[in-house]
Amino acid sequence: MIRAILLAAGKGTRMKSGRPKVLHEVCGRPMLWYVVRALRAAGIGRIVAISNEELLPHLESFGVEAVLQTPQLGTGHAVKIGLAAIEPVPGGRIVVACGDMPLVTDEIFRGVAGSLDDGEGAVMSLVTVNMPLPSNFGRIVRRGRDIERIVEVRDASPDELAIDEMNAGIYAFDEGELRAAVERLGNDNAQKEYYLTDTVADFVRGGKRVRPVLATDHLHALGINDRVELAVARREMNARLCAAHMRDGVTIVDPETTYLEPELTIGRDTVIYPNTAVSLLSTIGEGCVVGPNVRLSNARLGRGVTVRESVVTDTTVSDDVSIGPFAHVRGESVLGSEVRIGNFVELKNAKLAHGVKAGHLSYLGDAEVGAETNVGAGTITCNYDGRNKNETKIGSNAFIGSNSSLVAPVSIGDGALTGAGSVVTRDVSPGERVAGNPAKPLPKKGSSG
Ligand code: UD1
Ligand code: CA
Repeated sequence: MIRAILLAAGKGTRMKSGRPKVLHEVCGRPMLWYVVRALRAAGIGRIVAISNEELLPHLESFGVEAVLQTPQLGTGHAVKIGLAAIEPVPGGRIVVACGDMPLVTDEIFRGVAGSLDDGEGAVMSLVTVNMPLPSNFGRIVRRGRDIERIVEVRDASPDELAIDEMNAGIYAFDEGELRAAVERLGNDNAQKEYYLTDTVADFVRGGKRVRPVLATDHLHALGINDRVELAVARREMNARLCAAHMRDGVTIVDPETTYLEPELTIGRDTVIYPNTAVSLLSTIGEGCVVGPNVRLSNARLGRGVTVRESVVTDTTVSDDVSIGPFAHVRGESVLGSEVRIGNFVELKNAKLAHGVKAGHLSYLGDAEVGAETNVGAGTITCNYDGRNKNETKIGSNAFIGSNSSLVAPVSIGDGALTGAGSVVTRDVSPGERVAGNPAKPLPKKGSSG
């Protein structure tokens, strides 16, 4: 049985933030979210997070157990507190990781836990990385294939500082051995802290083996300490997300200026042009064209949808719709198939049926528009009377003349027409033709008036 202790009680002072460090976001998710996801993907169900007071109330939403550590006396102290919170399991395994490593992968956790059971009889294994010098990471002092000890930078000699193999801060332990070792830790070091890393020398002194697991990419173990490193992690994570979608058949013209989040669905043969951000569980169907300069947030696009230079939030869009350039669609709008939304059109809580066209300079808010209706340039639903938001209903196959103002609540029947510049203040019956301010019925076609 593998359980994890997640270290997250540190103050994260270098973020210079009012927000706990591990809650800072990388591609739309807190750093901690990624670490928890990787642990779970590695098959580790039970996670105990070591927390400070500010972070504590947030931990429940990550589905982890929380243990408060005050004061914070070092990583060894943190693990000791974590162990006290979980019942001993004979032959158990404990993985220790940090909450500020968003780029860590489930393979790394599987690798480090697996190396305890590779027949070599190690009681501890840890991830090491070759990193460019100088670095603040603890240095790995080797003895052949095994590790002899870890020396923290503040306690290191010049020779030790020249070692470029570092401690990533990801470990797996035999549980019983770890429980005994944390009891033996002292704090006789430069920081007067109980170092978890001192367990290495302790095990070796006791004739036990500690195995290194070298990580191929040092970014995987990147611990985020400040906002510069946060940006490095964001860039790397975004590149990974883009790569995964590209491998699944999405064309991303410029991954560097395409901003994705985890948990997006994007269909095959969709093309994403530069300067596009897709967030909040958006889904994009097959064969869409999105971008350039598009922001999609909680947007659900069907197949064959085109969105150019536009913002679409909290909206559902059916197949073969075209939006933009320069449109703003929001507020739980629903667009039927083959709808056309052109430049400088804003939709808010608008339900447009199949084939509706609103090509230019319009605001449709709290509106329902029937199939195949044409909304002329400059049409405005006057939905706000200063107190309430009111609804506009337009039937199917209607023709709304340019620059019509539809003063809600108002309804316009199927096949009705409003002349250019109409100010519609009362309901218009199906087939009726109105014009003027206020709009009045036009003489019937063919009548002499
Ligand atoms: C630690 C390692 C170092 C390693 C580096 C990798 C020790 C002594 N050193 O150094 O060898 O190269 O990580 O990133 O472990 N934390 C607590 N409670 C505490 C202290 C720390 O929960 O009392 C948490 C922090 O929030 C952080 C993690 O433990 O997530 C690491 O602590 P930090 O003080 O940053 O250790 P480093 O000096 O980076
Ligand atoms: Ca420290």
